[in-house]
Amino acid sequence: MKSDQRIVLAGGSGFLGRLLAEYFGRSSRREEAHSSLNAKSEPPHVGCYEVAVLSRHVPRYAGPMRYVRWDGESPGDWVEELNGACAVINLAGRTVDCRYTTANRRLIMDSRVNSTRVLGEAIAKCAQPPKVWLNSSTATIYRHTFGAAWDENGEIGTTLEAKDEFSVEVARAWEQVFADAATPETRKVAMRSAMVLGNYRNSVFPVLRRLVRFGLGGRMGSGRQFVSWIHAEDFCRAVEWLIEQEEFSGPVNFAAPNPLTNAEMMALFRRVCGAPFGAGLPATRWMLEAGAFLLRTETELIIKSRRVVPSWLLHSGFEFRFPMMDMAVANLATTG
Ligand SMILES: NC(=O)c1ccc[n+]([C@@H]2O[C@H](COP(=O)([O-])OP(=O)(O)OC[C@H]3O[C@@H](n4cnc5c(N)ncnc54)[C@H](OP(=O)(O)O)[C@@H]3O)[C@@H](O)[C@H]2O)c1
Repeated sequence: MKSDQRIVLAGGSGFLGRLLAEYFGRSSRREEAHSSLNAKSEPPHVGCYEVAVLSRHVPRYAGPMRYVRWDGESPGDWVEELNGACAVINLAGRTVDCRYTTANRRLIMDSRVNSTRVLGEAIAKCAQPPKVWLNSSTATIYRHTFGAAWDENGEIGTTLEAKDEFSVEVARAWEQVFADAATPETRKVAMRSAMVLGNYRNSVFPVLRRLVRFGLGGRMGSGRQFVSWIHAEDFCRAVEWLIEQEEFSGPVNFAAPNPLTNAEMMALFRRVCGAPFGAGLPATRWMLEAGAFLLRTETELIIKSRRVVPSWLLHSGFEFRFPMMDMAVANLATTG
């Protein structure tokens, strides 16, 4: 294994971290199998990576992944992992799927801003800085819209009816601290990600499928709001694509090219995931508010109209395996 083939996943113990660890780890295991067999058959994957996960909790059994302890806010032995790494990917952040109490707001903001700041400081001190640093951001940064879709030059801002003031404030602060980090030898990419559809427990796909199977898969609110999304496999492939683009720095929309309305999405889930009866019970705005309170979450995650397109990825030649949501949902329904 070459030392410049290490990928560091900060906050990599969660949904996206496990996806990426599995995706890149599979490449490295394929290389090991290939060399141990001295096979003449299929050559190894072009990128063969060693994965290190930075986490606040090192599990007793981490499987094939290597866990390294950090606290997400101050330097420690973990900084050695960055030295000579080919990529650092920051996924740390307290989940936004909670009530936005004062304490939760502070955790949501601090976990993102502090982890980004300390990674920047650590990279700046590396003798051999990583080639690229991909930092999480969010497609929620763009203004709520029923109009034309936003590409990377889209309007950033908040709208009263979308109740998105806090999320946009977090996204702006998160990207600002990332932009301010002085890492001249390391390319920086802000991943403005839409919701990722995968089979990870309690993530969006299995939760929506469960709702639909209980007959609760009607439109949510007006159903007119746009939903942007990306299949888990395309998310990983897009990360790898960006690692390989040796010149590019800047924000990138991680979203499939075809956002759809919430009503269209729920109809599609009902069709593919086996709803017990036709239309599914719709949820009005007040029902969403009450349900969100009971489930300890926020309606903004559902009512904001997110219409975002991946202009940079498409123009750079990236090809989506799942450009349409019906393809993505059908794939996940048969593999999960
Ligand atoms: N999943 C999506 O669809 C999606 C879409 C857009 C943006 N994003 C963003 O992408 C990032 C990763 O998403 P995800 O779905 O993988 O999230 P996740 O499953 O909640 O994982 C986030 C990780 O952050 C770490 N973390 C949590 N609280 C922390 C704190 N207070 N300080 C430091 N680290 C903390 C945790 O690692 P340890 O407990 O091991 O330290 C956790 O595994 C998040 O920032 C999220 O906002 C996700």
